[in-house]
Amino acid sequence: MRLVQPFSGLEEIVQENASLRPHTWYRIGGNAQYLIEPASNQQLALAVLRCAENSIPLRVLGLGANLLVKDEGIDGAVFRLQHESFSQFEIEGNIVRAGAGVFLAKLINETIRSNLAGLEILAGIPATIGGAIRMNAGGRHGEIGTFVRDVTVMDTDGNIDQLSHEEINFEYRTCDISAPFILSATFELDEEPCEEITKRFKEIWMYKRTTQPLNAKSCGCVFRNPPGTSAGLLIDRAGLKGMAVGKAHVSTKHANFIVADENCSSDDVLKLIKLVQEKVEQSAGIVLETEVKVWP
Ligand code: EPU
Repeated sequence: MRLVQPFSGLEEIVQENASLRPHTWYRIGGNAQYLIEPASNQQLALAVLRCAENSIPLRVLGLGANLLVKDEGIDGAVFRLQHESFSQFEIEGNIVRAGAGVFLAKLINETIRSNLAGLEILAGIPATIGGAIRMNAGGRHGEIGTFVRDVTVMDTDGNIDQLSHEEINFEYRTCDISAPFILSATFELDEEPCEEITKRFKEIWMYKRTTQPLNAKSCGCVFRNPPGTSAGLLIDRAGLKGMAVGKAHVSTKHANFIVADENCSSDDVLKLIKLVQEKVEQSAGIVLETEVKVWP
């Protein structure tokens, strides 16, 4: 393999000019200058230090389910913590410890099987544990922050620290953890018979399946719900379902989803986002803010 200058010695975990498409739900957008997939905390710390030494900006990818990568791609490093060393979890009594790379859906299943309630309210939300905590994943049934006991993070100097629940402010689709890397988290759940939890899980899952375009290429809900109302409702009322720009269209199933059809570009989606914002402002006098993360 050819030498990757700022990351010499770490070639095994660094790809240059790597497509991020396979790592996003939209499957669109440009390349990352460096895509870094460490196999341990030590490798992560090393790569992070190289970024600092070489003034390389860094970003962290989760499951890419709430992300739009622009067509021009990303200058700098994109980290992906999906190696098995970041994807371990263990359950002890009602305490669950999970690495950043664990899939939320997998953890929900395993906790339900262990008669532990809480995370089932996140049914149907595609995420890694790291991404879910960073964005305080949730919806009308609750949010992940409620169940977090502590979070282990790494800062830009490669130092590891643990934050307790009390030290973190979980807000609507965000939290105030300043360290760029979430390494793992522990959750405190409630004991309850598996059958009861499964019932709730199924109800939420069915609701989503009937109201959201789960099989289409999307980034989940595009806009944040304005206080007291729903972005989907406002977009629907403005008559925008099905409206298209290029190969992007407003879902006819749930108006807060923008679906990418074959050969869609990120630019199509961005233009449609802007158009929806303009139309909703005209019709309802409300400026919708995006929930989706747009890179860069
Ligand atoms: N509505 C319409 N037309 C639409 C879509 C929605 O009239 O096209 C109406 C619904 O009938 C309902 C209201 O708007 O009366 C709210 O809709 P929904 O129950 O679908 O929830 P939402 O407010 O759109 C969603 C997600 C959130 C997400 C936020 C945005 C749920 C079930 N869904 O809520 O959660 O974060 O918008 O912040 O909570 C997710 O569902 O995966 C999710 C992450």
